[in-house]
Amino acid sequence: MNVRKGTLLTPGVEEGPPINTARVALIGANGHGRWHRRVIGPLHVAGRLRLVALVDPRPIEEEPAAPVPAGTRVFTDHRTMLAEVAPDVVVICTPPHTHLSIARDAVAAGADLLLEKPPVLSSTEHEELADALASTGRVAQVGFQALGSAALTALTDAVSAGRLGTVTGIATVAAWQRPDAYYARAPWAGRRHLDGRPVLDGALANPLAHAVMQCLAVAEAVTGHPVDPARIEVERYRVRPIEVDDTAVLRLRPAVGPPIVAAVTLAGEDFVAGEVIVTGSAGRAVLEYPTDRLSLPGDPGPREVPGRRGLLENLLAHRADHRVALIAPLARTAPFTAVLTALQAAPEPTLLGGGLVDAVGEGAQRVLRIRGVNEVLRRAAEHGELPSESGVAWAVAPWQTPAPDPPAPAERMTSE
Ligand SMILES: NC(=O)c1ccc[n+]([C@@H]2O[C@H](COP(=O)([O-])OP(=O)(O)OC[C@H]3O[C@@H](n4cnc5c(N)ncnc54)[C@H](O)[C@@H]3O)[C@@H](O)[C@H]2O)c1
Repeated sequence: MNVRKGTLLTPGVEEGPPINTARVALIGANGHGRWHRRVIGPLHVAGRLRLVALVDPRPIEEEPAAPVPAGTRVFTDHRTMLAEVAPDVVVICTPPHTHLSIARDAVAAGADLLLEKPPVLSSTEHEELADALASTGRVAQVGFQALGSAALTALTDAVSAGRLGTVTGIATVAAWQRPDAYYARAPWAGRRHLDGRPVLDGALANPLAHAVMQCLAVAEAVTGHPVDPARIEVERYRVRPIEVDDTAVLRLRPAVGPPIVAAVTLAGEDFVAGEVIVTGSAGRAVLEYPTDRLSLPGDPGPREVPGRRGLLENLLAHRADHRVALIAPLARTAPFTAVLTALQAAPEPTLLGGGLVDAVGEGAQRVLRIRGVNEVLRRAAEHGELPSESGVAWAVAPWQTPAPDPPAPAERMTSE
């Protein structure tokens, strides 16, 4: 699409939206931003919001399912857009390492945020953004869209109602494949640092972040509180010369509540969409989070629990009436960001190769698969064991966060 900075795309008469309709801008309009354009488009047409600006340094790609509405301005720089358009809501869908500075600018300009996941890359950045929100009175919804799923609510309701008995473990297993083209699509793909700044791509931090976040949401239902990680152990592997993991098994032991294990790969043999497995004294539940298929104790098999509340619609509803709770407020993502903080400190993943890794396909669509990885990940999720603990020949000792200091004797006596 040939558009000039700051121009009206299609000048013309537009039916005006209701006076209080939120004016929305999207920063990062290509890549996953096209998905946001497909969400925003129908809401704009229905008069529920008004898309006022797109920002991207690259030309805006055509999105046939969501043509850019007349009157939408296009910018290459978010600061210029914020100054000239002053939107009410900003959707930020740029590379992860750009999130904090853009988010700070947007809230300073008076906008509420729909901020893509991972919202920020460390707990320090989380605190900075939380402070910026508090001082400006703005809110941030984080793009963990699977938190809006009715299937997750059905699972957490079952957990809270005691249908699984005492929950003893929460785990996720997912096996995807990503071709060479995936790592070539953007300069930050597969990188730990870019231009001297942390980027922290990787299976756990990015494509399978939803799997981790779903587990944290279930853990929240078990204890009634957000997870407070006491210790994180992780084994990270890679099959390409990237700087981050494409295969990882992570075990998080919370200060209170059952352990959480995430066993994921982008170099899988068989496709596993992403299961969240909750084990309790009275039975187990499995949620396939990308498809919203759920099986609870006593169910004859998995059933689809349809329905997802959209994050942008929920943010608009919250702005109109603060009694409507946000689905994924920044605070809810603090344990996820604590996981990222631990991953930042972990050493480079172990490179796997030789006879262990098969190449399938050609050119940019070539994928690499680790022989036997599905079985290894399944075992980790089912038994809560890291690969190095279950005798996997290629496994290496886990990296772990330091154990928290033991409580002082007086503290221990009061808490016992
Ligand atoms: N919620 C989900 O399921 C989901 C899925 C995919 C990606 N994401 C997230 O969306 C974000 C973007 O991912 P992607 O894969 O689309 O990345 P990408 O690099 O493919 O695309 C990002 C877009 O942002 C633009 N951009 C870069 N810097 C910018 C800036 N300073 N201002 C404006 N635009 C800028 C780029 O030109 C590009 O068009 C990431 O945080 C990613 O984790 C979320």
